[in-house]
Amino acid sequence: MTDVLDFAAVTVVRGKKRLLDGVDWKIREGERWVVLGPNGAGKTTLMQIAGTRMHPTSGSAGILGETMGRFDVFELRPLIGLSSAALANQIPGHETVLNVVVTAAYGTTGRWREEYEKMDERRAFRLLHDWGMSTLINRQFGSLSEGERKRVQIARALMTDPELLILDEPAAGLDLGGREDLVKRLSSLAADEAAPATVLVTHHLEEIPPGFTHVLMLRDGGVVASGPLGQTLTEANLSATFGADLKLIENGGRYTAVARDSDAG
Ligand SMILES: Nc1ncnc2c1ncn2[C@@H]1O[C@H](COP(=O)(O)OP(=O)(O)OP(=O)(O)O)[C@@H](O)[C@H]1O
Ligand SMILES: [Mg+2]
Repeated sequence: MTDVLDFAAVTVVRGKKRLLDGVDWKIREGERWVVLGPNGAGKTTLMQIAGTRMHPTSGSAGILGETMGRFDVFELRPLIGLSSAALANQIPGHETVLNVVVTAAYGTTGRWREEYEKMDERRAFRLLHDWGMSTLINRQFGSLSEGERKRVQIARALMTDPELLILDEPAAGLDLGGREDLVKRLSSLAADEAAPATVLVTHHLEEIPPGFTHVLMLRDGGVVASGPLGQTLTEANLSATFGADLKLIENGGRYTAVARDSDAG
C-alpha cells in the first residue's frame, strides 16, 4: 500500500530563514494526525507542501505515491481536501453556501459536463447536511458566523472525496460551544472508516478530537516528536514544543495543558 504522505528531509528556506528544517513525516491510510506547535513553527508551511501549494527548497515530498516536482499538481489536487484561512479568504462573500461547496468539484479541472452538475449538487447538499448546514445552503458565505463558515469549509474540502484531508486550524475563532461541536464532529469523522487520512493543525490540546491516532510536534521548523498520540504526547515533548514547563492533563480522551508554575498541587 502506498503511503499517503512520505516526506524526507523536507526543508523550506526563504532568505536566511529556514521555515522547515529537515522534516521527515509519513502518513499511512486510515491515520488521523494532529500537528501541534507554537505560532511560527512552520505548520502552515508544511500544510502548503502537503496540499501541493508549495515546493520544498530541498528534500523529497511524496504525496499519494507521487514525488513533488515530478507530477502535475493539478491532477493530484482533487485528491487532497484542504481547509485553511488563506483559502477561506479567497471565497467571495456573495457566493452561496451550496456554491462554495459545489465549486470545489470544478477545482482546477475546468468546466464539467452538464450531466455531472446535478450529481455535484446532490453531493454538496449531503455534505452540508452532514455538517449541520442544510438549512443555510442559500445563504451568502459572507453572512455566516465563524463557526458556520468553518463547517462549510470542511464540507468543501470533502467535496472531491479526497484521499487526504488537511484542516489548518479549523477551530480558530470558535466559541466554546462551537469548538465542542466541531471536536465532536471531527471525532465522528475520525471514527468513520471511509473517511480519508486526516491532518488537523492546532495550538490547543483541547481541540484534539478523540479518535485521532498520531501527533507531529513542530518547533522552529523542526520536528520535536512524531508518532502514535498515546506515546508521543508527553509532558516532556509538549514542554519542548511550546518552550514552557507544562503539565499535561488527560480526561476521557480529551487533553489540556497548564504551566507548571500555575499548578497549586
Ligand atoms: N515568504 C516568507 N519569507 C520569510 N518568512 C516567512 C515566509 N513565509 C512564512 N515565513 C515565516 O515562516 C515561519 C513559519 O510560518 P508558518 O505560517 O508556517 O507558521 P505556523 O506554524 O503556521 O504559525 P501559526 O501558528 O501562527 O499559524 C513564520 O515565522 C513566518 O513568519
Ligand atoms: Mg499557521
